[in-house]
Amino acid sequence: MSNAYAQRGVVVLTGAGISAESGLGTFRDVDGIWTKYPLEDLATPEGFARNPEFVQGFYNARRAQLKTSRPNAAHLALSELEAALQAAGRRFTLITQNVDHLHEQAGSQNVLHMHGELLKVRCEACRGVVRWPDDIGVRTPCPTCEAVGLMRPHVVWFGEMPLYMDEIETELARADLFVSIGTSGNVYPAAGFVQLARRAGARTLELNLEPSDGASFFDEARYGKASELVPDWASEIMRRL
Ligand code: OAD
Repeated sequence: MSNAYAQRGVVVLTGAGISAESGLGTFRDVDGIWTKYPLEDLATPEGFARNPEFVQGFYNARRAQLKTSRPNAAHLALSELEAALQAAGRRFTLITQNVDHLHEQAGSQNVLHMHGELLKVRCEACRGVVRWPDDIGVRTPCPTCEAVGLMRPHVVWFGEMPLYMDEIETELARADLFVSIGTSGNVYPAAGFVQLARRAGARTLELNLEPSDGASFFDEARYGKASELVPDWASEIMRRL
């Protein structure tokens, strides 16, 4: 295998749709989280400043829900694909907008959580990020610096900078295949990754229940449930290795 070939790779972006069949709600579908709760109050720094108890309660409930949710066939297929591509000397990058940890539970080794992680919290005083499976309250002291009242979910809110952007842009620039799974293409910068990958010469594929907002940017699209589409697509790739 030539070096040039080995340096290029598969980049996958996932959104809430991949976890829908694990019982976690999506955001913008009928019954989606943002159709029931106001995004401005629950997913912005201003909302948190106005009513921290309400925001902590919302994220505590979502964190508690993770204790009983399990990865589905789509998460498992991506983990299997990562192992197969790596064994074949190919690059594989998994970027997720999801704050759940179902990719890790399925065995994925290297997950870029660009919107943060529900199972982590951080302190606004010392900036320390810690793993935290339980509730936090407005008086929870920071386990590192002991400041009181400054702990918040380690989740990226609207108006804040997503995480791992340098690494993501590097991987998109050397993608030869970009696959978007279970995302509405509504939220930037993730919604723009397909165009960055195209510009770098990658082929682009959308796997979603319905056409996303950016559907016209993809070379190919397959519509249906992630638990069916993703294992089928991953098997195709693995057969060709
Ligand atoms: P959305 O709720 O906007 O979109 C979910 C997509 O998944 C929709 O296009 C659905 O059609 C599709 N879908 C639903 N069930 C599916 C299934 N079983 N199989 C395949 N596809 C399915 O969620 P995201 O695009 O992830 O950010 O939302 C992006 C960001 O907006 C989130 O990360 C979150 C949210 O506000 C923050 O909170 C910062």
